[in-house]
Amino acid sequence: MNKVKVDKLVRKYLQQKGLPLSPALTFEDVTIVDQFSDIPTRSELEHATGTTRMLVVKNIFLNIPVVSANMDTITESRMAIAMARAGGMGFIHQFLSVADRAKEIELVKRAHSGVIEKPLVATPDTTLAAAKSLMAEYKISSLLVVDHSGKLLGILARRDYMFEDNNAKTVGELMKRNSLITASPHTTVARAQKILAEHKIEKLPLVDRKGIVKGLITAQDIAKTQRFPLAARDEKGRLLVGGTVGVSGKVLYDVEALLKAEADIILIDTARGNSRRLIDTVLSIRKNFGSKIPLIAGNIDTPDACLRLINAGVDAVKVGIGGGSACKTRMGPGVGIPQLSAIAECTAIAREYRVPVIADGGIKNSSDFAKALAAGAYAVMLGGLLAGTEETPGKPFYEDGEKWKIFRGSASIEFQMSRIDREDRMDFIRTPEGVPKRVKYRGEVTPVLGELMGHLYSSMSYVGAWTLSEFWERAFFRMQTRSGYEEGRPHDVY
Ligand code: XMP
Repeated sequence: MNKVKVDKLVRKYLQQKGLPLSPALTFEDVTIVDQFSDIPTRSELEHATGTTRMLVVKNIFLNIPVVSANMDTITESRMAIAMARAGGMGFIHQFLSVADRAKEIELVKRAHSGVIEKPLVATPDTTLAAAKSLMAEYKISSLLVVDHSGKLLGILARRDYMFEDNNAKTVGELMKRNSLITASPHTTVARAQKILAEHKIEKLPLVDRKGIVKGLITAQDIAKTQRFPLAARDEKGRLLVGGTVGVSGKVLYDVEALLKAEADIILIDTARGNSRRLIDTVLSIRKNFGSKIPLIAGNIDTPDACLRLINAGVDAVKVGIGGGSACKTRMGPGVGIPQLSAIAECTAIAREYRVPVIADGGIKNSSDFAKALAAGAYAVMLGGLLAGTEETPGKPFYEDGEKWKIFRGSASIEFQMSRIDREDRMDFIRTPEGVPKRVKYRGEVTPVLGELMGHLYSSMSYVGAWTLSEFWERAFFRMQTRSGYEEGRPHDVY
């Protein structure tokens, strides 16, 4: 596609959306125009299945169009688990060693399963101390016990060790050995549920004819499936999770480790995505790992850059420069396109190739969220809006009589210094393009997502859109003045 075609497509799409070519706009500059709607109430959308199901890359779907940012104060396994349970997904940040990133991914993958393919095991000579440490590492409460050939010998369940003080005892002394109920490796989850209920047990090891452990189905996992009906899962019933890499010389090694940990999507993240370095990284990942790896890259904010990434072979593009709540890029280097225009202009190109746009940064509330989607984003990445929630990494602290958590830009001085400390390396500090903040502790993330989605269903009903795809097609904007924007904010009545 040449420059003339790119310009033509951008102009056409902006016109369709009611947006100007210039100046570049952001969320407050526009409002979504309501349209004739045959949707009786927004709860029709809320209770119907699949209304906000959408593609994030290739054949991977989310049930709500939200992903958590790959920032060190936003997404590690706890956040990724909460996001995927709610129907979105999280991207584990790249500022951990690759081994730790892989571990975080593994924790998400083990959090919910249809069938656990590689259950954690101990041998009878394992001490209780070692078994407890393994269970704590993976946040589980029982282990299958096998001999050295992998043959099932018993189960070490919580009740077998909960009142045991002697950590030197062996698993063999404590475990339940007799009358183990097992099933064949091909047992379905539905069948397993019946067996578990019939025998009033919680764990069903799957073993082959020789008794070798081939899997495990647990009552807890089945209960979680019912408790989180919208959860975003892979084909094996495990929660979806993304892993992030940078553009360093060891990127291929990192990608290999994250894929081995079974990350569903690889995100290549760099502040300057319109760069030779990112294109070379994409090409090299494709060359080494083939076309099947679901790959997102960013960040970019122009149609040219979007086309360049698509030509290099990405499956989705992450759009947004300098709009993030902890960013200083617009203030420092003075670079970055206001986010609503950036999303729409990149969508104009990406949609020609059916490549999803992920809008990243600058979402302050549910109206920004709805507008980002109306402009064409398939999913919206959130940082600041999730900051301070229980599932973010780091402990809360008390100051000035309130409970807080830390949130910081990935290019802040504080972040850079902690990275130098953590990685024990001498390094120079770049001029910061991000800031740290203390943010009020906000409890669990689920209600935050609930509020965003509640308003999104409402936006969809105002536009007459029964699905998110219809919302993309139907929604268009009108520019508004500052006073128009102020009029729309709750204001005093005299
Ligand atoms: P929100 O607005 O959701 O944005 O907090 C999250 C996104 O902000 C980006 N980010 C940064 N951008 N300097 C920047 O210019 C930074 O220090 C920084 N830290 C995060 C990133 O794209 C994130 O997903």
